[in-house]
Amino acid sequence: MTTSTIPRREPPLRAVPPARLPRGLMPAPDAAAILSALPMPAAVLDAEDRFRFVNTAAELFFKLSSTTLVGMRLAEILPSDSRLFALLHQVRAHDAPVSDHDMHLESPRLRRTGVAAHGAPLPELPGGVVLMLNDGSTAAKLDRQMNFMGAARGASAMAAMLAHEVKNPLSGIRGAAQLLEQGANENDRELCQLIQDEADRIRNLVDRMDMFSERPVERHAVNIHQVLEHVRRVAQTGFAAHLRLLEEYDPSLPAVWANRDQLVQILLNLVKNAAEAVDPVSGELHLSTAFHHGVRIAIPGSRERVHLPLTVSVRDNGPGIPEEIRATLFEPFVTTKPGGQGLGLALVAKLVADVGGLIECDSRPGRTVFRLSLPMPPAGSEPPGPWRRAGSPNGGY
Ligand SMILES: Nc1ncnc2c1ncn2[C@@H]1O[C@H](COP(=O)(O)OP(=O)(O)OP(=O)(O)O)[C@@H](O)[C@H]1O
Ligand SMILES: [Mg+2]
Repeated sequence: MTTSTIPRREPPLRAVPPARLPRGLMPAPDAAAILSALPMPAAVLDAEDRFRFVNTAAELFFKLSSTTLVGMRLAEILPSDSRLFALLHQVRAHDAPVSDHDMHLESPRLRRTGVAAHGAPLPELPGGVVLMLNDGSTAAKLDRQMNFMGAARGASAMAAMLAHEVKNPLSGIRGAAQLLEQGANENDRELCQLIQDEADRIRNLVDRMDMFSERPVERHAVNIHQVLEHVRRVAQTGFAAHLRLLEEYDPSLPAVWANRDQLVQILLNLVKNAAEAVDPVSGELHLSTAFHHGVRIAIPGSRERVHLPLTVSVRDNGPGIPEEIRATLFEPFVTTKPGGQGLGLALVAKLVADVGGLIECDSRPGRTVFRLSLPMPPAGSEPPGPWRRAGSPNGGY
């Protein structure tokens, strides 16, 4: 823990009263609005360690809405031996800012590792502490997701170009190889076959890249359990036939607001990756759904906060995401598999953004979870229609 050397703080800066503002200058927003705009979790705790204020990022961090958190004691969320309590104690004892790094905040409802915390006394509230947290998740993840989106968008422009420039000559090459094969001797026939196989492989790649292209997407109220049932059947009749697949669904979950075919693609990619990661004998995949109140995401650059209360998780007991690709996991062409294209998660990131959701990954050896947070249908929308088979994910997921 590091204690700041500044013994006492200067009197806090206050907003300039409107009457004394230079002409034409709008008054600054109030402190709560400024704190809420911050991308990192910030909270104010009183002398009894009760939450008195939380910003949007803190709601996400603690996975509770501000209405629930305000008035709650920190001890209801974290065990009393948590280092965060020691930090709060130090802030009050020294009446000075204190920082601590690489903390593990763990409890049945919270699991955050590598958290940096900064606490500072709040003279306006006796015993009060303003706390800033940073765990490289939540806002940072959202930020990164925006970057993945950028990467996926880059791939989408390339996809359009590839589809146009490569597919036509490729079918010509394939057709020519087929014709040559008819009059070729045994050895040359093998080479002709090789040309056709490779042409098919390139066509497959281009088709997959084509899924990145921007198309208008229709969203409906979708029954997520029907989507999961379809994904489970596809997985268990194919690539996950040998694995144990467990389901923990919240049957009361309302419909999600998304595109059914996109949801199938997202989940098939996640389940396929999980199936490829686990041990063929002891491998286990869990599919689960849950409702989380209070998950509200501030859209960067907008005042809007979307509510993403519906979560779908794909968990496996494989070795975890290799350290060296964690930072770029959702970027295109990142793969550790010999035959992998590294397009699955880039496509997932793009489709999740299309449906207005959020995807997070939490991975350690023996436990990898991809958690998808999705919006609910807007008021007055049609209820989910009868299930029809999702459009062809054409084998590439
Ligand atoms: N559940 C998981 N457990 C461990 N590693 C994973 C998991 N999911 C993804 N990964 C890692 O992330 C990488 C990227 O995954 P992604 O789906 O984007 O590409 P890929 O599976 O390698 O190829 P493909 O384009 O065929 O999907 C994988 O190569 C793998 O190293
Ligand atoms: Mg994959």
